[in-house]
Amino acid sequence: MLKIGVMASGKGSNLRAIIDFIKEHKPGFNIGAVISDNPDSPALDMAEAEGISSYYIPPGEAETFLEPGIEEKYTEVLLGNRVELLCLAGFMRILKGSLLETFENRIVNIHPSLLPSFPGLEAWKQALEYGVRFSGCTTHFVNREMDSGPIIMQAVVPVLEKDSAESLHKRIQVKEHFIYPLTIKLIAEKRVSISGRRVHLD
Ligand code: GRF
Repeated sequence: MLKIGVMASGKGSNLRAIIDFIKEHKPGFNIGAVISDNPDSPALDMAEAEGISSYYIPPGEAETFLEPGIEEKYTEVLLGNRVELLCLAGFMRILKGSLLETFENRIVNIHPSLLPSFPGLEAWKQALEYGVRFSGCTTHFVNREMDSGPIIMQAVVPVLEKDSAESLHKRIQVKEHFIYPLTIKLIAEKRVSISGRRVHLD
């Protein structure tokens, strides 16, 4: 059984999807710990309600990343819960140090665009404003550059004439909730390998 850790800052709908997937499919993974940098994230309540260890770890002064000492605390909590794969689910800070070193090639993220288009914040809004006809979401391994590690899975959605940023994000999230649990399942089944920038799925 692969033990995953989930880090989330926001509303936690991807965590919800992962929890529901585990309940429904009993795959070869479970959640060992949930951590948030936001004390008000519903992800923390969700974890607690499911009996999953959950932690609010204050992020420190920096706004866009975890300060080194604090990143180490995150690492300790994950290791203390025997986490083997770290899943970022709307975690709004860049990882720089000990998490990347400790979980090398064992951190995944979900991003709301078809990478490498529209990395960064509010990718769905960027896509709408740019005028693309299709967007979607991407699961990828996390490396030192933001939103640029090897791509695992992608799902496509159309951009409709009447779309607002919110309606497009909503459509993208439906796909996120499908490909993220599936990505984790494939990793748990050891069906995912990385060679250079390419990821092979067996
Ligand atoms: C998602 O759109 C995800 O792609 C991005 O942050 C958002 C998190 O949503 N990385 P939620 O908190 O899981 O609902």
